[in-house]
Amino acid sequence: MKPFNPKTVELGYVALGSSDPAKQVAHYRDVLGLKETGSEDGTTYLSVNGAHHDIVLTKTTEKSFVHQGYQLRGDIELNEMAKTLEDAGFKAEIKSDSQPGVAKLVECIAPGGVTFQFYKEIDRKLPTPPVGVAPLRLGHLAIITPEREALFKFYEEVLGFHYTDDIGELAFFMTCNRDHHVVNVLGLPESRIHHIAFELRDNGEHVRAADILSRNGTDTLWGPSRHGAGHNVAAYHHDPDRVMIELYTQMDVYIPALGHFEPRDWHEEYPMVPKSWPLEKMTVWETPFGFNLAEG
Ligand SMILES: [Fe+2]
Repeated sequence: MKPFNPKTVELGYVALGSSDPAKQVAHYRDVLGLKETGSEDGTTYLSVNGAHHDIVLTKTTEKSFVHQGYQLRGDIELNEMAKTLEDAGFKAEIKSDSQPGVAKLVECIAPGGVTFQFYKEIDRKLPTPPVGVAPLRLGHLAIITPEREALFKFYEEVLGFHYTDDIGELAFFMTCNRDHHVVNVLGLPESRIHHIAFELRDNGEHVRAADILSRNGTDTLWGPSRHGAGHNVAAYHHDPDRVMIELYTQMDVYIPALGHFEPRDWHEEYPMVPKSWPLEKMTVWETPFGFNLAEG
């Protein structure tokens, strides 16, 4: 078994470009209930649970995936991370005050042109009471890239993530903590975000979230239903730019020291270990999808 010693702790933020950021901001702020923490030069920062930002929306000519930010492990300094990236053959740049809330970070462009930022600290305040869907936290993102193997290798070998499952050798799940996945890398001839996922407080919140989305004119595309890989109870909708948003609960909990997942009574086997799932086991409840996985 490979040692589990990832360089990052969690996914901190995702930055999206939009030709109509006002519409995007309204969805994340008024429907999903994220808090707007700042807006400058056409860029708006939104927070889920007290961090300065989890979602960044910026004006661009067309919909784009700008960057993703990960919090570094406590014992890794920014200059050490920059050296690690450079030793692995990637250009790394230390930036100061490149965005509000994060005083210093290391930026790197990984395979597939995917931009990563690594930081030690992000400004935080005590979260305020919820409005809208009000997810508990930002959990993971799914990235489509034509360079699936190289980006997977970057996560695994440079950042120390563990493989935790795949679906049909198309979608590869990886983690740097106890979540079944912090990222899902899909190998397809495109470069974009497939979806961004927020964890809800409990299963009952799925019903409340679907009602709020519906009242705001947003259809739920699929679910809530339980996935095979990860066993999360997930529901998906599109934001106004047709970036897919997942709301989920009950995701598998990975025990890195044992290389398997904490047992649950809805598991198919014990121990539940990382494996390849067939495409048709996308859902264990056989709920038909309202969207095509590859095109959604
Ligand atoms: Fe997901």
